[in-house]
Amino acid sequence: MPLPKFLSTFLKESPVILGMRLVVELFDEWTQLMFNLGAARCRGTKAKIEAKLTVEYHAIEKGLSLGAPRLGFGEKRILTLVSDLRWYHSVFNDRAFLERPLATIRGYISFNQERGFEPTSIRKAYDDFLDDIGPSTEPAAQGGVKLVKRSDIQGFGAQFEAFANTRHSLRNYSDAPVTREEILAAIRIAQRSPSACNRQSWHSYVFMGAEKDALLGFQGGTNGFTESVGAAIVVVGDLRNFFINEIHQPYIDGSLFAMSMMFAFHAQGMGSIPLTTSFKRRKLREFKRRFGIPDYHTPVMIIGVGHLKEEFHVAWSARKDVSDAVTFRSEETRP
Ligand SMILES: Cc1cc2nc3c(=O)[nH]c(=O)nc-3n(C[C@H](O)[C@H](O)[C@H](O)COP(=O)(O)O)c2cc1C
Repeated sequence: MPLPKFLSTFLKESPVILGMRLVVELFDEWTQLMFNLGAARCRGTKAKIEAKLTVEYHAIEKGLSLGAPRLGFGEKRILTLVSDLRWYHSVFNDRAFLERPLATIRGYISFNQERGFEPTSIRKAYDDFLDDIGPSTEPAAQGGVKLVKRSDIQGFGAQFEAFANTRHSLRNYSDAPVTREEILAAIRIAQRSPSACNRQSWHSYVFMGAEKDALLGFQGGTNGFTESVGAAIVVVGDLRNFFINEIHQPYIDGSLFAMSMMFAFHAQGMGSIPLTTSFKRRKLREFKRRFGIPDYHTPVMIIGVGHLKEEFHVAWSARKDVSDAVTFRSEETRP
């Protein structure tokens, strides 16, 4: 027998019921975090230890990019890093990964040398390590710091505003197929997004054809235009990169990546739409199972992408006043 309306509304809005439902949702999330966060069994999982090492070598790059770094800073930390890299090499032996921290240490050594300081112990540890592991067949990575000129950056302003103002969520695409090259080009640009300690925890799963239709059908937010979407890209964040203070970081880094990807498609003259993966946990588990997404990957959103028709309508999606998006807590400071 259906509940009377007033009772079902009361139960739906009851904080007690909400609290109980949240416990179920959060318990499921808790199990995912328990088994996948980088904090536990860090040394046993390649992706986890790589994230930890990335945090470490990125600290060197950050230090070098300060206005006037102290020469020879961080000696102990860098020596520890070299010994951790030795350990990583002995267990996982992935030279492609090692190239990035090694390039950063090289950058540190030359930065100091160019300023008349010889980081003797670090140089020795680095040279000994390289002697032991031998030459690399991997392309050399860039690391350390690079010099940027103000003139390289200034001048995009008005163009960017027009660019951002012409991006819309598209719900009506042409029949032209989306190619792998177009997707890879957008993902390469999206990889320029900032991420916490440059861990780049994002990943993309690309679906086309019937699998794309099934995925969007499951997601449920593209009714009326599922088939016109050229490809669906599930953006996920990898929990193995993160520690206990960072349980929501996959969503943050993943969203920055997703936004850049949408702008990158826009720059290619294509259209896109972000689509939610905010499912209840049971549906989320089913989504991941059906579409082959491992437990450590947390879905952030789906991006539908396709080519533009000559003319099409988009929702206005009017924005609130700018004052709604900002509160200045301090008076403007003037020189
Ligand atoms: C995380 C996220 C999930 C979204 N999910 C859907 C969706 O399921 N279906 C849909 O039609 N639009 C979806 N949208 C698109 C929003 O409706 C749209 O971004 C918003 O109205 C602003 O419009 P604009 O993107 O055209 O500027 C989503 C947007 C975001 C950021």
